[in-house]
Amino acid sequence: MSELAINGGKPVFDEPYPTIRNSTGRTIGAEEVDAVNEVLRSGCLAYIYGDKVKTFEDEFASLIGVKIAVATSSGTAALHAALVYLDPEPGDEIIVSPLTDMGSIIPVVSQLAIPVFVDIDPFDQNMDPVKVEAAITARTKAIIVTHLFGAPADMDAIMAIARRHNLFVIEDCAQAHLARYRGKMTGAIGDMACYSFQQSKHITTGDGGMVVTNEDGKFGRSLRLCTDKGWPRDRPGRDHLFLAPNYHMTELQAAVGIAQLRKLPAVVAARRRNAHILDTEINQLSAVRALGVRPECEEVRWAYAFEVDLGKTSVDGVAITEALKAEGIDCFLGYPGKVPLYRYPMIRDAITFGKSGWPFTLPGVRQQDFNSVLCPKAEQACLQTIVLWWNEQIDASQARLIGSAIRKVLNHYTS
Ligand SMILES: Cc1ncc(COP(=O)(O)O)c(C=O)c1O
Repeated sequence: MSELAINGGKPVFDEPYPTIRNSTGRTIGAEEVDAVNEVLRSGCLAYIYGDKVKTFEDEFASLIGVKIAVATSSGTAALHAALVYLDPEPGDEIIVSPLTDMGSIIPVVSQLAIPVFVDIDPFDQNMDPVKVEAAITARTKAIIVTHLFGAPADMDAIMAIARRHNLFVIEDCAQAHLARYRGKMTGAIGDMACYSFQQSKHITTGDGGMVVTNEDGKFGRSLRLCTDKGWPRDRPGRDHLFLAPNYHMTELQAAVGIAQLRKLPAVVAARRRNAHILDTEINQLSAVRALGVRPECEEVRWAYAFEVDLGKTSVDGVAITEALKAEGIDCFLGYPGKVPLYRYPMIRDAITFGKSGWPFTLPGVRQQDFNSVLCPKAEQACLQTIVLWWNEQIDASQARLIGSAIRKVLNHYTS
């Protein structure tokens, strides 16, 4: 057996393989450059006077198969716009996953609602519908369902629960562009869906996002106003109808987005194709398991995640991750990190608005002990899941080589 790189041996990768951090792992070319130059030359960089954001929104809506799409400055902004639209009362509850980006939770707290974390199904690490139903109270208003790593959650079960309890469902598709559930596009299943176009996503505008829906005005406000200072620009003069942020996307970002959108199906196909090669490599090893994908789904592989059975290894997940990094693998332990989201200071210590601790300290709100093991399966997942940055430029032979680096490290540490 060859010596591990971490112990002085030769790494599997001498040179870095494609990364989302720069052009090697992104699909950005002359189309994007020309589009940005066109906007710059036009002198119109703002959505209110231009047509790029509008075009991007229309094309995005038709690709997902929804009526309305509103572009935003980030995925977090898209989720916040969705909650401004829903307009919960302070202290109302929104059910969320503990394994997602903090961008799914910040909007809840910003809107003075309470995030209620429910445990995951270890199979795919998406929210467990049984836990969702058990968490519902008279104050529950919505469920934010993240399709983690691009694998759709159990939407039949979640939608059935939501309909039974009259809850609004926001799909967090930030990692799941074009993923399908029973042939239907994710993002067109819930009541509303949000996307991110941040650097690592299937398509990128640097930062950026989109919020989509079929039903505008359901709670008495138009979605666009939720990203535009509550300002109905189709009326003469200036007016601000309710508290809403300015989350505009710029024409520059939208120009890139339009070019990127045309490449999205091929990007998704390449990510899946080569991830499936790595699945095959990984699933031959006794101590690891590629995360599951529900059989009714077509997943789209944002990051590549696999679980290590730490009962079979002589070292912990940290040591395995470090050994993989030494082999040249671009990876980290646990998603979003080594602990679920409720253990981060912002939530755990309610570091929110001055010293108030709002919304967690508002009268009559649900008390949750964020220092306790609220979601044991999520806690476990963070310790044993290794996440590889993935992208569409990783080719079949690189996918196989990544598999052999994992085999090399796991063989070393597995008894
Ligand atoms: C699942 C999920 N939700 C929300 C977000 C927030 O998106 P953004 O970083 O664009 O604000 C992200 C992005 O990292 C994400 O992956």
